Amino acid sequence: METITRTKIVDVLKSEAYGTTVNVKGWVRTRRGSKQVSFIALNDGSTINNVQIVVDVEKLGEEYLKPITTGACISVNGELVKSQGQGQNVEIQATEIQIYGTADPATYPLQKKGHSLEFLREIAHLRPRTNTFGAVFRIRHNMAIAIHKFFHERGFFYFHTPIITASDCEGAGQMFQVTTMNLYDLKKDENGSIVYEDDFFGKQASLTVSGQLEGELAAMSLGAIYTFGPTFRAENSNTPRHLAEFWMIEPEVAFNEIAENMQLAEDFIKYCIQWALDNCMDDIQFLNNMFDKELIERLQFVLKHNFIRLPYTEGVKILEEAVAKGHKFEFPIFWGADLASEHERYLVEEHFKCPVILTDYPKEIKSFYMKQNEDGKTVRAMDVLFPKIGEIIGGSQREEDYEKLARRASEMGVPEKDIWWYMDTRRFGTAPHSGFGLGFERLLLFVTGMTNIRDVIPFPRTPNNAEF
Ligand code: 4AD
Ligand code: MG
Repeated sequence: METITRTKIVDVLKSEAYGTTVNVKGWVRTRRGSKQVSFIALNDGSTINNVQIVVDVEKLGEEYLKPITTGACISVNGELVKSQGQGQNVEIQATEIQIYGTADPATYPLQKKGHSLEFLREIAHLRPRTNTFGAVFRIRHNMAIAIHKFFHERGFFYFHTPIITASDCEGAGQMFQVTTMNLYDLKKDENGSIVYEDDFFGKQASLTVSGQLEGELAAMSLGAIYTFGPTFRAENSNTPRHLAEFWMIEPEVAFNEIAENMQLAEDFIKYCIQWALDNCMDDIQFLNNMFDKELIERLQFVLKHNFIRLPYTEGVKILEEAVAKGHKFEFPIFWGADLASEHERYLVEEHFKCPVILTDYPKEIKSFYMKQNEDGKTVRAMDVLFPKIGEIIGGSQREEDYEKLARRASEMGVPEKDIWWYMDTRRFGTAPHSGFGLGFERLLLFVTGMTNIRDVIPFPRTPNNAEF
């Protein structure tokens, strides 16, 4: 076969160089036709759209074409011509086809269209070859780019926090332990507690649940930073919104108070959504048509409206009034309760019909590092609540006072020996500062309209599932 530089299908489809010879490579989505002419829909992942390859069956030989079935990988040389058919501008009239790899129709699982998302999860190694997952993962890439652009344009520095850590930022005890010890032969002290002296790090170590504590150290020197990396939580919650391994973006800004923190969060999410609409429209349009007819409308709606800002106490009042009027929630609601996703979604979807930033939560249900309000009961926390998702961002202004922070850490059982270095920022040149964490996959749920978090990450990690 003649060697011609490959053109990506996304570029071929935009080309008007009719009459030139091009090469495309990709995976066959379908092949149909007659004894005279065969039509191959070819996709190479660069776009959701396929290019149509038109084949003169006699010229290339019926026998030769036989193994070109759904899933096979081929390389095609041919002439770019204006398309006669509807829905595409160009097609390729094949002159030569090389078969890289066949896909036996008897065993290739992606035969017919319309597989369930549950089935596709079981073949996560092949699902990026479907329209749906191609779209989702192209959007995922674009959102990562948007995030870096947003912060870079605003002078934030991308700061890498460790994945292996010896401190539990959220203090929720949901950490995966990291060890090289022989689990069959653990050394224990006289009380039966495991001795970690001989373990790899000489102490108990885990996978991080958040890069925030280290992020704060960076904000107190570089001024404004963000992290963007994987985080791990061994919470046994089998819900459509929780993963054991998820990606989080955590900006942290010196001198920002809670109001500025809220504005940053709102600007940030809106920037990402605008980016998706500007750069991923083919994919979003597909998902809109296939799964969620209100997706595009919802994305545009969020851009147009200011997020409501509301103290937790007011939010609880609204929920209690709803209950009084006969609304049924599965979980009880009262001042002091941690809001369940149904409560969050009621505020957003039924009451305000708009994203809500809830602030000033009871200190008992929030982490030790949050700035304590003067009422002695609440902390300067903020959760951004979104339609269909519930909590998409969690953040706060941080307690900058050494004494108050130390007291709260001890009350909440966070050992000072684990966070002495964190406490040092409050001893040396402390300052007001704030930050938040955006769950990357929660953002993707919103932007793609998918309803299960397992469908917006390539290889989901959840209780009892670490396949692939
Ligand atoms: O509210 P969280 O636990 O806050 C923190 O980790 C803070 N240290 C962030 C900060 O202030 N720098 O988590 C932040 C966000 C949540 O709002 C949610 O979007 C996401 O992370 N998240 C999860 N996403 C998927 N699976 C899970 N198990 C998640 N847990 C939290
Ligand atoms: Mg939270």
